[in-house]
Amino acid sequence: MSHPQAAIFAEMGQHQWYVHLSRNDGADLGAIRSALTQLRSDCEAKSINLVLGFGPDLLADLGGDVPDDFQKFETVQSTDGSGREAKGTQEELLLWLNSPQKDDVWKAQYDARTALAGHMSVARETPTFIYGESLDMTGFIDGTGNPEPSDEPEVALVPDGSAGAGGSFILAQRWVHDLTGWNEMSVEDQEKVFGRTKADSTRLDQQEDFSHLAHVELRDGETADATKPKRNEIARRSTPYAFHDGTVGLYFMAFCREQAPFRERLSAMYGQDGQPRDKLTDFSNPASGSYYFAPSAEQLSKMIG
Ligand code: HEM
Repeated sequence: MSHPQAAIFAEMGQHQWYVHLSRNDGADLGAIRSALTQLRSDCEAKSINLVLGFGPDLLADLGGDVPDDFQKFETVQSTDGSGREAKGTQEELLLWLNSPQKDDVWKAQYDARTALAGHMSVARETPTFIYGESLDMTGFIDGTGNPEPSDEPEVALVPDGSAGAGGSFILAQRWVHDLTGWNEMSVEDQEKVFGRTKADSTRLDQQEDFSHLAHVELRDGETADATKPKRNEIARRSTPYAFHDGTVGLYFMAFCREQAPFRERLSAMYGQDGQPRDKLTDFSNPASGSYYFAPSAEQLSKMIG
C-alpha cells in the first residue's frame, strides 16, 4: 500500500510559495535528484509542508510510475467571441511549500532553486497567503464545497492497483482578478455569480445558468441539481496573492485522483460544452496553468532517492 505526500492533506501554513521550473538543455538528472532530496530533508527539518509535482516528461525520465490519462495543460479558449481564455503554461516541476514561517519557506525554496540552477530554470513563482477565514479576495469564502476531510483521500488519490497509486493529479493556475470591476457590483449580483451567499457561503436554491456552481458543482444528471449526489469531486487548496505592481488574484491549487474532472470543469467554465460561460470569467482569468502529478511518498523516494 502506498502513501500520499503528507503535505497534500496537512493543515496549510499561512505562508505559501509556488515555484515552477523546467529543464535546461543538458540537465543532469542526478543533480536534480540530489537537489530535491536536499529540499525534502530541509523541509522536514523546519516542519515545512512540501509537495513535489512533476510534469509528464520529467516524471517518466525520473523513473516514476506514470498514471493513465496524464496530459499537459493546453490553453482553454472560450467559444463566444469574448476572447477569454485559461492560459496554458505547462512546466516540468512544481515546488509547493507552506508553513506559518515565511522566512523558512523563502530559504528552503531559495536553496532548492540555487541547487537546481544550471539544470532547471525558474519559469515563474508566486508567494501566496491565507486571507481571513479562507477568503478569496472577492470577499467570498473559498473551500465550503470541499469534500469532508475524511473523504479527501478517496477523492484526491489514485487508488491502489492503478498506475500511480497513492499519487495525485494537480491543477495549478494563477488567476488574475479585476477587483475594481467586481467591487462595482452589488452583493446580490456577486452572489449570483458564485451561487452562494457572501456572508456565510450558503448555497442559493436558485442557480443562474452563468453561476460558478452551475459549472463546477458536478452532480449525477444536471450539474448543480442539489437533489442529486456529487460526482468527480476535487480537493481545493487555493490561496490569494498580491504582486507589487497591483496584480491580485487567486492561486488555484487542487488535487484529484484523475485529471479529467479538472478538464471537464475548465471547459464548462469557458462555455466549450455549449453552456453560457461562467460569469466569474468576466472578472478573473488565469495568466498561467499547468498540470502536475504528485507521486506517492514511496514513489518519490524511488525517483529521487
Ligand atoms: C478565480 C478563480 C476561482 C475562484 C475565485 C473560485 C471561487 C469559488 C467559490 C467562492 C466557491 C464557492 C465556495 C466553495 O465551495 O469553495 C467555489 C466552489 C468551487 N469551485 Fe471555484 N473558484 C475559482 C476557480 C475554480 C476552478 C478553476 C475550478 C475547477 C477547475 C473550481 C472548482 C470549484 C469547485 C469544485 C467548487 C465546489 C463546488 C461544490 O460545491 O461541489 N473553481 N469556487
